[in-house]
Amino acid sequence: MKVRVTSDVPSDGHFTVRLVVKDQRAKLTPPPSDGEFSGSVGSVLNDRSKRIMYVGLGDRAQLNSTAVRSAAGSAALVLRQYGHNKVVMVLEERTEFVEAAVEGFVLGGYRYEDFVPKKTAEISELVVSVRKEDVTGARKAAERGVVLAESINAARHLGNAPGNIIYPETLAKHALALARRAKLQCKVMDEKGLRAGKFGGILSVGSGSARSPRLIALEHLGGGKNEAPLVFIGKAITFDSGGISLKPPEKMEEMIFDKCGGIAVLGAMESIARLKIKRNVVGLIASAENMPGGGAFRPGDIIQTRSGVTVEIVNTDAEGRLVLADALSWAREHYKASAMVDLATLTGACGVALGESCAGLWSNHGEFLKTVQSCATNAGEKTWHMPLGQEYSTQIKSSVAQIKNSAGRLGGACSAAAFLEVFAGETKWAHLDIAYTARQTADKDGLARGATGFGVRTLVALAESRG
Ligand code: BES
Ligand code: MN
Ligand code: ZN
Repeated sequence: MKVRVTSDVPSDGHFTVRLVVKDQRAKLTPPPSDGEFSGSVGSVLNDRSKRIMYVGLGDRAQLNSTAVRSAAGSAALVLRQYGHNKVVMVLEERTEFVEAAVEGFVLGGYRYEDFVPKKTAEISELVVSVRKEDVTGARKAAERGVVLAESINAARHLGNAPGNIIYPETLAKHALALARRAKLQCKVMDEKGLRAGKFGGILSVGSGSARSPRLIALEHLGGGKNEAPLVFIGKAITFDSGGISLKPPEKMEEMIFDKCGGIAVLGAMESIARLKIKRNVVGLIASAENMPGGGAFRPGDIIQTRSGVTVEIVNTDAEGRLVLADALSWAREHYKASAMVDLATLTGACGVALGESCAGLWSNHGEFLKTVQSCATNAGEKTWHMPLGQEYSTQIKSSVAQIKNSAGRLGGACSAAAFLEVFAGETKWAHLDIAYTARQTADKDGLARGATGFGVRTLVALAESRG
């Protein structure tokens, strides 16, 4: 989508979008009834004969960038559906929200249609109209919105691709291509490299699949030569069948989204490179396919992770923590991380606790926790602080190894975090469980169904912060 900011509104053939807060509804002619247009966030009144669309921003008092992003996204979803591909968005009274509006609109314009026979036309052009004196500032804001949305959409696109298309090797190819485009360093460790490096967690999880695992590193060297990097770590299980502890068939197809932690890291690294953030940031993507093949690891196995810590495998479906364990160790050992954040579709239990719109957040460091919390809030991504502690650490003790990879149902999201905590050691660390925020099963909040890209904005905000 081409995005352009101007104070001269083109008069040719564009469809116009106006964002209105609830109390502005009454001023429309004729004033719409509640049923027709409630004015709540993302509600739409479409006047196709006048080629104008009103989109609700909700209550004036609660107006913020999340509402604007979501409303603009809803407009784009509807406009794409109707095939209106040149659009003017009027932001003359909303200049402080140009970034959110542009970002939301570009996000809302994305839909995964690679394999459907009847594709809808992409929206080709967005013209943002602002007052003359605001053009310069609005251009900068719009550009940032475009960079973020394009990075998020590229990540969503990989997230939406099924397991026969995106598997560790092809994910690595995409990372290499991204690195070339965005001028990042990219290093891929294949099975041979992982063996040489004794990455026992990643190798075990990948062992039941015909498609071998990869550890992908993307490096952005925007800071000083000796500055320790901030490291982002993503779980990228390209398909999670559960392995020998096979999942039930219902909804198993949704396990193509088990790579969404990894793709969030990919999206964040793209934005960080394109925004030229002045800091060293590394993205590590631990990728494997969890399958029950003849070479698969099994319940009862005892494996040794990269760090040396031994793990009793109780359930091969608790695989995410195993690949993350090795990546956390690598971040500390090889990259001497100043701080680490991992993102993972780690546990169904996190969804049970927090639902589909809020990610679980754990940390071993009070101050870093606050930084991550405020970055997430500012980025419009909901998180909730969840506990670590002795009780959870005790749950994962093993009688035959140092720890075990599953502690059963109760507090499942917290015992998973306690497992990761072992590998974070003394390094500042935060963990985001995005199991149910990484994807949505219907069009919602200005985003088409499928991968949401959750986490990208928080990571970019973190890279820009001093935390
Ligand atoms: N990828 C799943 C978690 C998941 C479940 C994400 C549902 C999204 C939706 C993870 O690998 C998993 O299977 N976790 C198990 C852990 C258990 C065996 C300790 C779970 O949540 O049941
Ligand atoms: Mn699993
Ligand atoms: Zn999984």
